[in-house]
Amino acid sequence: MVALLGRNGAGKTTFLKTIMGLVRACQGRVILDGVDITALPSYRIARLGIGYVPQGRGLFPELTVLENLKTGMRDRRDKGSLERVLDLFPLLRDRLGQKAGTLSGGEQQALAIARTLLQKPRILLLDEPTTGLMPLIVERLKEVIRELNSRGMAILLVEEKVPFALSLAHRVYFMVKGKMTFSAPKEEVASREDILLKYLGVQG
Ligand SMILES: Nc1ncnc2c1ncn2[C@@H]1O[C@H](COP(=O)(O)OP(=O)(O)OP(=O)(O)O)[C@@H](O)[C@H]1O
Ligand SMILES: [Mg+2]
Repeated sequence: MVALLGRNGAGKTTFLKTIMGLVRACQGRVILDGVDITALPSYRIARLGIGYVPQGRGLFPELTVLENLKTGMRDRRDKGSLERVLDLFPLLRDRLGQKAGTLSGGEQQALAIARTLLQKPRILLLDEPTTGLMPLIVERLKEVIRELNSRGMAILLVEEKVPFALSLAHRVYFMVKGKMTFSAPKEEVASREDILLKYLGVQG
C-alpha cells in the first residue's frame, strides 16, 4: 500500500485520472504488468484490474444503494460477490433500497468503495476517502482498507489526513506541482518532521 501526499492542487487527482485513462497523458506512460496501458479506454483499464474510487465518491444520488452497486457489477446475477462486499460493509445491507443521496458521508464512502470492489480489482485507487467523515467512521474505514490490503490488494491512497495515510501505507510519495518529488518508507516519513514540512508545509 502506498500513499500519495501533496498540497491542494498538486495534481494528485489528475494523476489518478491519468492512470484510469480519464485524462490523457501528455507525456510518460502507464505500465501495468509490463504492458503499456496509457492509451487504453477507461473501461479496458478497469477490466485489467484497476479500481478507482474518485474524490467526492461519484455516486448516483437518485439511484438506490443496490442500483449504485449494480453499476459496478459486470454480472448482475453474481449474488456471491454482492454478499461478500456487503459482509465488508454491513451497514449498507440495511439500506439497499435507500437513495444514495440520502446516506451519511461514511455510508456514501462505503458505497463508493463497495461498488468499485464489485469490479474485483487487483489494484485500488482511493482519492481522499476520509473527507467529511467523523473520526469513528474514519477508524472503521481504516480497518477495511487494511483488511483489503492484507488480502493481497494493492492500494494507492491519496489522502489529506497525514496520520491516516502514515498508519496505513508502507511507502509514501510526495507530489509537488504535478511531479513526484520524493518518496520514502513510511517509517522514515513518520520519524522525520522535516519531510512533511518540506513537501506539505505541515507539522506531523
Ligand atoms: N501534471 C500536470 N500538469 C499540468 N497541470 C496539472 C497537472 N496535474 C494537475 N494539473 C492541474 O492542476 C489543478 C489541480 O489538480 P488536481 O485537482 O489533480 O489536484 P489535487 O492534488 O487532487 O488537489 P486537491 O488536494 O484539491 O484534491 C487542475 O486544474 C489540474 O488540471
Ligand atoms: Mg484531488
